[in-house]
Amino acid sequence: MHTQLLPADQHSIKLAADLLRKGQVVAFPTETVYGLGAHALDAQAVAGIFDAKGRPADNPLIVHVRGKEEAAALCHWSDRAEALALAFWPGPLTLILPRRGMVPDIVTAGLDTVGLRAPSHPVAQALLSAAGLPIAAPSANRSGKPSPTTAQHVLEDLEGRIPMILDGGSSDLGLESTVLDLTGPVPLILRPGAVTPEQVAMVLGACDVSPLVMRQLQPGETAASPGLRHRHYAPQARLSLVTGEDKAVADFINRQLAQEPNAHVMALSDHLVLYPPQRRHDMGRDAFEAAHRLFYLLRGFDELGVGRVYSETLPADGLGLAVMNRLARAAQFDVIQAGVD
Ligand code: TXA
Ligand code: MG
Repeated sequence: MHTQLLPADQHSIKLAADLLRKGQVVAFPTETVYGLGAHALDAQAVAGIFDAKGRPADNPLIVHVRGKEEAAALCHWSDRAEALALAFWPGPLTLILPRRGMVPDIVTAGLDTVGLRAPSHPVAQALLSAAGLPIAAPSANRSGKPSPTTAQHVLEDLEGRIPMILDGGSSDLGLESTVLDLTGPVPLILRPGAVTPEQVAMVLGACDVSPLVMRQLQPGETAASPGLRHRHYAPQARLSLVTGEDKAVADFINRQLAQEPNAHVMALSDHLVLYPPQRRHDMGRDAFEAAHRLFYLLRGFDELGVGRVYSETLPADGLGLAVMNRLARAAQFDVIQAGVD
């Protein structure tokens, strides 16, 4: 199959909408990461997503909608969902709610809940309107790779496997949406993102964060989000996170770099000068910039054939929680405390 990479203008959005209505899959930009979309109510079309990505069938998809009316048609909407949609939609917040029967099993991986999100990216919105359908869409990477933040990443992963990629430039946020489970007594963050627990608590009064956000699933333990069961993306390089006082972290990493000629470091902009120029990579100044760069940097290590990476860390609050969650998973939870013998 030939994969067309088209600038996301009105004409190509219409072509993409036609493909979606015919049951094909199409990659498109959102404000978080690129999505791989199909008609959410057409089980066969949705099967095409799992095929193209090589995604395990027990990992459910997010359904993208234009807004709360369309969402409420697919699930059992609630006052809490209404309040959150008013505050954060369109935007990077996925709500997990009890599903209605018309949502195919393949979308929810057989669960009795469905994830819903109204994206704010103008191309995603234009595509939803032109197609006139809810669009099921996971991130548009091959399963096991980091989520794509550019159309070029999508092409690298899915060329020859999908008919079309709409190129809308690089993603604004660079990390996937917050996934919030609204089916329990207290709202529960299953995956942290740009909408923070603090922001959800401002609207609903309370918000818990799943302990699995910062640690590994233990043998025998069940996960509320099936995504947490799967081995997440890890770079080919062995990645370790190094925490502690700034100076202890830099000293530790520099000692490792001296011993390991193929090791590199991801550091905050202010700390870059502490490390050797050819082996340092700029994570940005803060969580916002780090969110934007993380997946791009991780893909880069694989391309460069880097075998070993040490990374500085950020405070795990606000958007920093989302960045640290993705970093910790990419490092398979290998965290070194510097300055402790
Ligand atoms: O920002 C995003 O959310 C991007 C863009 C394309 O919208 N999409 C995305 O989809 O990241 P995906 O499939 O890569 O991640 C969806 C996550 C998975 O961890 C999945 O397990 C979880 O949401 N999820 C989906 N439906 C669920 C449900 N009914 N219950 C619990 N978790 C669910
Ligand atoms: Mg994904």
